[in-house]
Amino acid sequence: MTQASPARQATSLFLERFGSGPAVLVSAPGRVNLLGEHTDYNGGPVLPVALERRTVVGAGHADRWRAVSAQDGMVVEVSPDRMEQGSWTAYLIGVLRALGRTGLTLPGASVAVASSVPMGAGLSSSAALTVALARALTGLAGKKVSAEALVDIAWQAEHDEVGVACGRMDQTVAALARPGHALLFETGTGAITHVPYEGRIWLFQTGVSHRLTGGQLNQRRQECEVALGLCREQGIDAEALADIGVEQLPRLLRALPVPWSQRLRHVVTETDRTRRAAGALAARDLPLLGRLLVEGHESLRQDYQSSCPEADLLVESAVRHGAWGARLTGAGWGGAVLGLLPPEKEARIVAEVQEEFRLRFGQMPEVWATKAGGGVRSEK
Ligand code: GLA
Repeated sequence: MTQASPARQATSLFLERFGSGPAVLVSAPGRVNLLGEHTDYNGGPVLPVALERRTVVGAGHADRWRAVSAQDGMVVEVSPDRMEQGSWTAYLIGVLRALGRTGLTLPGASVAVASSVPMGAGLSSSAALTVALARALTGLAGKKVSAEALVDIAWQAEHDEVGVACGRMDQTVAALARPGHALLFETGTGAITHVPYEGRIWLFQTGVSHRLTGGQLNQRRQECEVALGLCREQGIDAEALADIGVEQLPRLLRALPVPWSQRLRHVVTETDRTRRAAGALAARDLPLLGRLLVEGHESLRQDYQSSCPEADLLVESAVRHGAWGARLTGAGWGGAVLGLLPPEKEARIVAEVQEEFRLRFGQMPEVWATKAGGGVRSEK
């Protein structure tokens, strides 16, 4: 039996728990980042694609804040004054606080959430949620807000309120993606280019769940700031790590100690790779794009030190069995590996990789494919 779509799930959950239908129904996608990892908080480019899998938020007028998620079906009361770290409602509270700062005044609302974006899989379930919430609640308040404003609200919710030192990639693609396109986002300038991509992207889930709050991502971000300071001490005039050119690397790598030299090398080479990858995608050169993905994975594994054995095996096995390329996507330390597979070899590669993973780690990894989906939208 196929599962009900998250839009139907959210609607019937809302109906069951709150006694009438939602006044607004909004969805936003998760994302898979093709390339440009850990560059968005270093002023560099990213190249994400919105998933077809989405998070749906139904909302209706009420005089207090009540929320329910299809995950556990429990209605909880929340208050913008009381942060609930560790619960999914932290993201709702974060959005309420960020909205409050924009002057939005709602006495409360009933909110029901359902999602087909896997959680803790590096596929940005959190930005799907915050962007959908921001659009649903502004809609409920009768306010029209731009996609850029939604990005701001969702980013503030996660960065300032939940406390994850994230960049703006996830919120930007959740708000602005176009179906059938990857999104090249130059975080240094804000420039966005939609690059056509009609093919499929395969996702191999490691089964290793990552939690971003208070974790390694924050530590890496700090290390990047230290690395930038050390580069400036070497006479480099850069606003962000991604402003440093590959030709400047050899001298800096000799001067900087580990691990800062490694973080620097990752960000600078990844910035260069991501721009070349956008060119390869635009030219439909998937073998070249695939090679750049594999280089990107190596850089994450060795220099950024954000991979894990499960992801390394998935990448290595996919490439050995004929994938154009594969790499760990998202923040890392678990999550999912993306693969670009020649269509005629898809079934065989997936079967071989699953079997190798099972032999090594004792369980079958979940594997599925997506095309490039669209950004936030109203569901009715
Ligand atoms: C997380 C963050 C993003 C980005 C990636 C790594 O998903 O939310 O902003 O930094 O990690 O590329």
